[in-house]
Amino acid sequence: MPPVRLLGLAGSLRKASVNRALLRAIGEVLPDDASLTIYDRMGDLPHFNSDLKDDPEPVTHWKQAIASADGLIIATPEFNYSVPGVMKNAIDWATRPPATSPLRRKPIGVVGASVGISGSMRAQYHLRQIFVYTDSPVLGQPEVIIPRSHERFDAAGNLTDESTRELLRAFGVAFVAWVRRFAPHV
Ligand SMILES: Cc1cc2nc3c(=O)[nH]c(=O)nc-3n(C[C@H](O)[C@H](O)[C@H](O)COP(=O)(O)O)c2cc1C
Repeated sequence: MPPVRLLGLAGSLRKASVNRALLRAIGEVLPDDASLTIYDRMGDLPHFNSDLKDDPEPVTHWKQAIASADGLIIATPEFNYSVPGVMKNAIDWATRPPATSPLRRKPIGVVGASVGISGSMRAQYHLRQIFVYTDSPVLGQPEVIIPRSHERFDAAGNLTDESTRELLRAFGVAFVAWVRRFAPHV
């Protein structure tokens, strides 16, 4: 079977983002038949504006990155009980025009971490709601909700908690199977 190519998006522009660290940790424990590239140009996207009839270059780049991936893993922080604006902006760009949106039928895994006890769960459920409209199949279980992230990642962004690593391994197995179900060419 051809390998599964995954794209990861962290909903944070911070260099020391724990959600980007979470994506790196997932990449380290994925099954051998899958690889993860972390998208690093979210900060280049302009604010969404439908007056712009032609996609600015960063938008084209972002849409092509989604289109060429077999599945998308989104690691979201929780900002004020919801999705950070930069992430919503990136999603909004990717949904226009709807008929050619690369998010349509794209398998998605939603994960997230926060310093608080909710572990980003409210943001994750908002994301799941958004992906109903984009018609993107989102993996149900296992959920990756990481509370008190500072107790699981060190200051350099290395995962230090073995039970979390096992959860990420289980997520990787389930997500790769999910992608193969919806992307028949892999
Ligand atoms: C504007 C703002 C709002 C936040 N709101 C929440 C929140 O509602 N729930 C929560 O658990 N953490 C909240 N936090 C804390 C973030 O979850 C925490 O900073 C997290 O590490 C950000 O993710 P990152 O490390 O990937 O940048 C908030 C942080 C900011 C800056």
